[in-house]
Amino acid sequence: MKEPNRKPGPASPVVQIALDSQSATPLYRQVYEGLRDAMLSGRLARGARLPSTRALAADLGVARNTILLAFDQLRSEGYLAGRRGGGTHARDVVPDAMLTVPRVRRARRVVGRTGARTPTKTEPPARPAPSVAPKISARGQALFETGSILIRRNGPHAPFELGVPAMDAFPMRRWAQLAGRRWRRGDVDLGELDPAGEPALRAAIASYVGAARGARCTADQVFVLNGAQQALYLVSQVLLDPGDDVWMEEPGYVGARVAFLAAGARPVPVRVDDEGLDVAEGRRLAPGARMAYVTPSHQFPLGVVMSASRRLQLLAWARSSGAWIIEDDYDSEFRYTGRPLPCMQGLEAEQREKGQRAHVVYAGTFSKTLVSGLRLGYMIVPDELVDVFRAARSTVDRHTPAAYQHVLADFIGEGHYFRHIRHVRSLCAERQAALVDAASVRLSGLLEIAPDPAGLHLLGRLAPGIDDVAAHDAAMARGIRSWALSKFYLRAPASGGALVLGYGGFDERQIRRAAGTLAGVLERMAR
Ligand SMILES: Cc1ncc(COP(=O)(O)O)c(C=O)c1O
Repeated sequence: MKEPNRKPGPASPVVQIALDSQSATPLYRQVYEGLRDAMLSGRLARGARLPSTRALAADLGVARNTILLAFDQLRSEGYLAGRRGGGTHARDVVPDAMLTVPRVRRARRVVGRTGARTPTKTEPPARPAPSVAPKISARGQALFETGSILIRRNGPHAPFELGVPAMDAFPMRRWAQLAGRRWRRGDVDLGELDPAGEPALRAAIASYVGAARGARCTADQVFVLNGAQQALYLVSQVLLDPGDDVWMEEPGYVGARVAFLAAGARPVPVRVDDEGLDVAEGRRLAPGARMAYVTPSHQFPLGVVMSASRRLQLLAWARSSGAWIIEDDYDSEFRYTGRPLPCMQGLEAEQREKGQRAHVVYAGTFSKTLVSGLRLGYMIVPDELVDVFRAARSTVDRHTPAAYQHVLADFIGEGHYFRHIRHVRSLCAERQAALVDAASVRLSGLLEIAPDPAGLHLLGRLAPGIDDVAAHDAAMARGIRSWALSKFYLRAPASGGALVLGYGGFDERQIRRAAGTLAGVLERMAR
C-alpha cells in the first residue's frame, strides 16, 4: 500500500487514549487500539501528523518503547505512514475502508469493461449483508484469560524480576565462535528434524542429567524443547482430559497452572510445608487426580526442598492411582551449599520393579544457566510416551531450530557448559549475598530476607500490616519489579504478606540501588 509523495497534514492535537495499567492487555496494544479507533471514528483526521513518539509517551505516561511498538504495528497494518525516527502521519485511506468496496464503484468498473449498462452514480449503496462475528474457541478463551499473565514485554529487565538469569555472563564470543564454525563448515542440518530433537544434543542432555541430577534415561527419551514451558504445555495436552484434577503446589508456579487450565483441567491447590508438597493433603482433596506438578529440588516460589520421604510417598500414590508426576527441575543447577537430592525421575527408575510403567515426566531448562531468550529446554519422558509426544510436538512447532541445537550440543560436548555453570553459580551466590546484605542494611524491619542455599530468587517477609499486592504495586510505580507472594496462591494465603525477589540477573550495584528504592517505598507504606 504505497502512498504518493505528500505533504503531511497539520499536527494532530493530542489523542486521548484511556490506558489501564492493571489490564491483561499489554500497554502497547492498548495504545495501538486507541489510535486505530481514533482513526476509524474520524477523531484522528486522515493525513494528520502524529505527535513525536517521545511527546506521546510523555503525554500518556508510558515508556517510549511502548509507543514505538504501537506505531510499528500500525505502520505494518497500513494505518500510519512514515519511518521509525522520522515524522509519522495517519494514512489518507485506512485499511478498513479499503475492505469495504462500495457497490457503485464496482458497477462502474464492470460497465467500463463490457459496456453493457450505463451505471447511475446516484444508485444507493447496498446495505451491508448481516455479518455474524466469528468466535474463538473455549480453549482459546481459557488460554487468553489465564495465559495473559505470562506475557513478557520487550525491553530491558529490572530488579527484582523473576526468572531472569545472569545474562551479562552469557558466553557471547564462544557461542558466536561455535555457531560460526558450524555455518562455515556447512555442518547445519537444513532439513526438518525429528520432533524430539537433534541426536547429538539429546545424547549430551541424557548424559548431563544422568551425571548432574541422577536421572536415568536414554537419549531416545529426551525431547529438546523451546523451554520448560513447552514441556508443561505438551504434557497438559497429551496427558490430561478436560475436567481432570491436577495437584498443584500451593503456592506454585503460575505458568504450570495456566497450562493445566488451558487444557480444561482443574488445578487442586495442595499445601506446601517445610518438607514440600503435602501428599496426605493431596490424597484427601483429590485422591483420583490424574497428575501432580512438583518442583522438588527447589520449590517455586518458597524454596523448600522436598524431603526424601515425601518423594517416596508421592511416587507410591502415583503408582497406586495411575497418576502422572511432572517434575519441574527449573533451577537445580543453582545449589550453593550441600549436595542436591537426585531428581525424582532417577529415584523412580531405581525403585521400579521390572515391567512396571514409569510415572514421572521430567522438565529441565537452559533458561536459567544460559539465557531464556534462546528458548532452549528439554523433557525426559517414559519410553512408552515417546511416540505420542513426537506426534504432539509435530503439530505445535515441529522442532527447535536445528542451528541452536547444534551449537548447544557442541557447547556441552566440548565442556564449556560445565565451566559456564560453575561461573554463573558463583556469580549468583555473590548476588544473593549482596541482596541479603543490602536488605539487612536498608530493609530491616520492613522486609526480612533470609539466605537460601539454592535458586535465583529470595522470599522477603513484609512487616505486619503491609499488604504484598499493595507493596508490589507501589514498588512497580518506582520501577522495582518484585512479585507479591499471594499471587502464587490459588486460595487465600494463610500467613502474612511477602515479596518474591529475583536477583540472578542483576549486578551488585543494581541490587543495592533497587533495595534502597524499595526501602523508600515500604517506609512510606509502614508510616
Ligand atoms: C518454576 C518454573 N518452571 C518453568 C519455567 C519455564 O522456563 P522456560 O520456559 O524459560 O524454560 C520457569 C520460568 O521462569 C519457572 O520459574
